[in-house]
Amino acid sequence: MSAIKKDYKRVTTKSLVEMKANRVKISMLTAYDYTMAKIVDHAGVDVILVGDSASNVMAGHETTLPITLDEMIYHASSVVRAVDRSLIVVDLPFGTYQGNSRKALATAIRIMKESGGHSVKMEGGEEIAESISRILTAGIPVMGHLGLTPQSIYKFGTYTVRAKEEEEANKLKKDAKLLEKLGCFGIVLEKVPSNLAKEVAESVSIPVIGIGAGDGVDGQVLVTHDMLGMTHEFSPRFLRRYLNLYADMGDAIKRYVADVKSRDFPSKEEQY
Ligand code: KIV
Repeated sequence: MSAIKKDYKRVTTKSLVEMKANRVKISMLTAYDYTMAKIVDHAGVDVILVGDSASNVMAGHETTLPITLDEMIYHASSVVRAVDRSLIVVDLPFGTYQGNSRKALATAIRIMKESGGHSVKMEGGEEIAESISRILTAGIPVMGHLGLTPQSIYKFGTYTVRAKEEEEANKLKKDAKLLEKLGCFGIVLEKVPSNLAKEVAESVSIPVIGIGAGDGVDGQVLVTHDMLGMTHEFSPRFLRRYLNLYADMGDAIKRYVADVKSRDFPSKEEQY
């Protein structure tokens, strides 16, 4: 079956559901700043995630837990200023929505008002159902996140593949159906066996975007700094590197240092 092609001038939550229905795969990448967001948007990515992975990638923290709401709003507002077409999803940071649905709504409202993002993403299923419902009643679109949920890393203990056992797989399937029923417009599914991810994607009408979840889902998401090879310590099986910018940028910077030291830069033409 050939994919139905449609030019989306502006991608919306509705476009994503339509893409799934028409079997058009959805592309999603992260961005945390204006310059990167401009490149990602203009290259035609459908969804830009202002992920709390900014905590690792931009701030150098070991986990996603330390990033604050103010920091997420700063990153998201920089991205919003760059984007013309992509749908922008902003992560609710750890500690701002779990266990208190009123606080969750206040957090989501701050993100929408102060950053101009289009939607929010939250990690978890049944445990955060009340918070998701409350945010949805305010008209804020919510994307779920199941499987490996990095904000719970201290509960899991490792970043290995989730839901390999039947009990966890069953809970994940139930949670996906619940997120659909609550009204989420999509689900990120991270690091789970591909046959389980395919089953989940086929069981819901909303798009399931995978990261380390195989080819049976409705779209793929990667961290842009990883797929461009700007980071180099992190090499999970699911990561395809399209460039090796860590090496290429390092070489360029070494050439600049050499040119400054040797007085080659600036040349006469590069002066006023
Ligand atoms: O924060 C993030 O970058 C994410 C992706 C890994 C999906 O949640």
